[in-house]
Amino acid sequence: MAILKIARMGHPVLRQVAADVSDPTAPEVRALVADMIETMHDADGTGLAAPQVHVPLRVVVFLVEGERAAAEGDAEGEEAVPLTAMINPVVEPLGEARSTGFEACLSVPGLAGAVERWDHIRYRFTTPDGETVEREARGFHARVVQHECDHLDGVLYPMRMTDLATLGWVEELRRAAPPAAADEQEAADD
Ligand code: NI
Repeated sequence: MAILKIARMGHPVLRQVAADVSDPTAPEVRALVADMIETMHDADGTGLAAPQVHVPLRVVVFLVEGERAAAEGDAEGEEAVPLTAMINPVVEPLGEARSTGFEACLSVPGLAGAVERWDHIRYRFTTPDGETVEREARGFHARVVQHECDHLDGVLYPMRMTDLATLGWVEELRRAAPPAAADEQEAADD
């Protein structure tokens, strides 16, 4: 296990379309996943995609903690999501509804901004054990999955922003916003 260096916005690896993993059960994939989990925890992130650690493969790790899911409030289906490793994930929107929420990214350190995402999605992936998993997600869970899967297509959240006036330093946004919003900005760091 090792803590990996995180690429920052401007590094070309973050703008690449990552390659499919041909054998999700390969030992080197398992080793990459273990290092990504360690790196994500060390950086206090909610999620991490392999391109963020300079590996252009379709691999993502994430989790939604119970506290975080509860803080999201009233939305239906807001539940904690256990630590999940996704190989070759595919996201499909369900319905037309979209909503805007603040996001941050370990590759864009210190900043946060408002991004519109699908409210309700279905996603599928393969685990490092070779199992195929399909889930539905809403709210913050859906937001995290969309943010992470965007990394696999070379897309960073500022590229999705429609109002750059909402982009700011987390510290300043926290100072200006009510505590609930500040928590969201901090916790959405993925
Ligand atoms: Ni990110």
